[in-house]
Amino acid sequence: MQSRHLIDLCDLTTEEWEELTTLACDIRENPERYAHECDGKIMATLFYEPSTRTQMSFQTAMLRLGGRVIGFDDPNNSSVSKGESLKDTVRVVSGYADLITMRHPMAGAAKVASMYSRVPVINAGDGGHLHPSQTLTDLVTLRNEKGRFDDLCIGMCGDLKNGRTVHSLIKTMSRFPGNSFVLISTPSLRIPLYVRDQLIKSGCRFEEADSLADAIDRLDVLYMTRIQKERFATLEEYHEQSGVYILDAEKMKAAKEDLVVMHPLPRVDEITVEVDDDPRAKYFEQTEYGLYARMALIMTMLKKTDKQLATLPIGSLHACGNPNCITNRERYVPRVFRRESDMLVCDYCDEHTLEP
Ligand code: CP
Repeated sequence: MQSRHLIDLCDLTTEEWEELTTLACDIRENPERYAHECDGKIMATLFYEPSTRTQMSFQTAMLRLGGRVIGFDDPNNSSVSKGESLKDTVRVVSGYADLITMRHPMAGAAKVASMYSRVPVINAGDGGHLHPSQTLTDLVTLRNEKGRFDDLCIGMCGDLKNGRTVHSLIKTMSRFPGNSFVLISTPSLRIPLYVRDQLIKSGCRFEEADSLADAIDRLDVLYMTRIQKERFATLEEYHEQSGVYILDAEKMKAAKEDLVVMHPLPRVDEITVEVDDDPRAKYFEQTEYGLYARMALIMTMLKKTDKQLATLPIGSLHACGNPNCITNRERYVPRVFRRESDMLVCDYCDEHTLEP
């Protein structure tokens, strides 16, 4: 892997995805061979936002590799509650640990952390933006449960606007030949522009749909997602969107016999518990694949020995239009944009705004 950090799985090549998933599968088959791979190493888990799977699977992964873990799972129990900046926290922790995994409610936060860290940073979810280690988990699941990454008709259903797992997975799967997407959501929760752009650039076929029942018989993979309550401005807006898509045994009757149902979890009400007993439901297996995916990721990232701090870019005077972008909270961060036709695209959160 060329990059010292993992911020977006799309920063890696498809060959690197293959290497990581191959390693994850080998760890699953032969865990004893890897039990001392990280002896003497320390990983810090900085979780500014709640998590069960990502945090605990990263921690378990490091412990199973022989390493140790420090960190916090509630910023109120750290000096963040006293007003410490992300920059200072990361700079300090990178003097204690060999690797940092970080979850944060603001889009682009992991990228900012990587700019001020001397050790590799893994993005464990940055707001409603990206979730690369979940996507690596999803790749390991597909490899084991579907046997391939290409020629798949993939249905993504639920909160496609705010679901970071959705954005990372679409960006990744659009790079494999023959894949197509059915993007099932209400009109208010369609994919953001940067994900749509990626689909168009890659030439990947996709359609947007309102009905899960109408689409399910065509799908090879169905990726259900939770409506992301924490990303809505008001509870009223959330309730307008919740409970619309529910996968139940009745809908499963119309699905292919070899459909694979995935969900990053946690689930609320979007998959009824009766579906759990259907052999096509793979979401609990998916959580276990996540452990091996993260073991492979930790081993690979710890091989990055360059401890130089990054050279900071020169910032723009223009501000990002996304209120949930990290640059609008941590004001010292140089604002950086790339130009795409007549739009400015924020380098941290991928928000598109018209050039001023
Ligand atoms: N899939 C996922 O990110 O779950 P957690 O929020 O529990 O980590």
